Amino acid sequence: MAQHTVTLIPGDGIGNETTSAMQRVLAAAGADINWEIAEAGAHLMEIEGTPLPESTIEAVKRNKVAIKGPVTTPVGTGFRSVNVALRQSLDLYVCLRPVISIPGAGGRYDDVDLVIVRENTEDLYAGIEFEEGSKAAAHLIDMVQKTGAGSIRPDSGISIKPISVTGTQNIVRYAFDYAVKHGRKKVTAVHKANIMKHSDGLFLREARKVAEEYADKGIEFDDKIVDAFCMNCVIDPSQFDVIVFPNLYGDIASDLCAGLVGGLGIAPGANIGKDYAIFEAVHGSAPDIAGKNLANPTAEVLSACMMLDYLGEMETAERIRDAVRAVYAEGKYLTGDIRRATGSQEPGCTCTEFTDALVAALQK
Ligand code: NAI
Repeated sequence: MAQHTVTLIPGDGIGNETTSAMQRVLAAAGADINWEIAEAGAHLMEIEGTPLPESTIEAVKRNKVAIKGPVTTPVGTGFRSVNVALRQSLDLYVCLRPVISIPGAGGRYDDVDLVIVRENTEDLYAGIEFEEGSKAAAHLIDMVQKTGAGSIRPDSGISIKPISVTGTQNIVRYAFDYAVKHGRKKVTAVHKANIMKHSDGLFLREARKVAEEYADKGIEFDDKIVDAFCMNCVIDPSQFDVIVFPNLYGDIASDLCAGLVGGLGIAPGANIGKDYAIFEAVHGSAPDIAGKNLANPTAEVLSACMMLDYLGEMETAERIRDAVRAVYAEGKYLTGDIRRATGSQEPGCTCTEFTDALVAALQK
């Protein structure tokens, strides 16, 4: 295969373990990748004064393709999310997360095959916020009162939920284009348009318009209110195919859907824009197991397979996926998260042992 230069952002927490494992697997599969390492994460705060140095954003821009490990975001206080900043600064407007059963991985179903397409730059998740007691919050509260839109308690913190026509059309078109390209049958838009008429209502209205553009492509379109989606998806995921979400619901549904197939340890993802793409697992930095060699690297490895597809190296990606399926089917080396998902009492193997098994499967 051709050589590709890729920016690797190991992140923090379990990031070093999962990205090192991923590098080993790609090397064993013969993927010719020139890794350019760039840093991001909580550990940089003291040295650089920021968890996301400008040089890291520049490295992604230079190589156009990156893969990252997770980055810790403190709850409540501290810096804003590195992930949100990367997605916004590089306009990675698509968050693509295939959810596929791997036999032997402890999923609730054997045949889940759905694709989450999450808008990645807008919505409550964009982090446009006003602190309780601030001048700006007071100004906003006053403005809301004066417009007659409602009233907000003076001791409120406020997060803004912008959903635009442009952002919605872009993400829904991506979902339909993806469905056409991959022979998918249906696109479902998920929303809460009954309550949030000017944000989710707009999302649904624009999704319906875009669906009409694709009427001759033979792809069914429907929509679901987010709470009903959650229940229906847990009861019978086979009724869904490609699912398009505004940012926050897509974030939550990603974990829910990962739970259907065995958990976060096997859920891959990608953040894609017109110019750049960053591949990363759905899971976070898992501080409870970080540094213990217990992390499951499958999600990072499968994210790398998505990257290889994106780079046009589908054959290598498919060989790695075959090896992953073989290791799970054999069931000899499974990490603790998967042992628990399968209900087994056996202890899990280490991240290294799992990676060894994957490398051995590739060399068979
Ligand atoms: P988490 O995904 O890190 O962990 C949730 C649970 O899943 C934990 O019990 C963890 O041990 C387990 N888990 C996650 N990945 C695993 C893996 N590969 N192998 C085995 N077990 C795994 O979610 P949590 O605890 O809510 O977040 C921790 C930190 O990660 C937070 O600071 C959060 O903001 C950040 N985060 C970062 C993301 C990213 O960089 N893309 C995505 C999600 C969260």
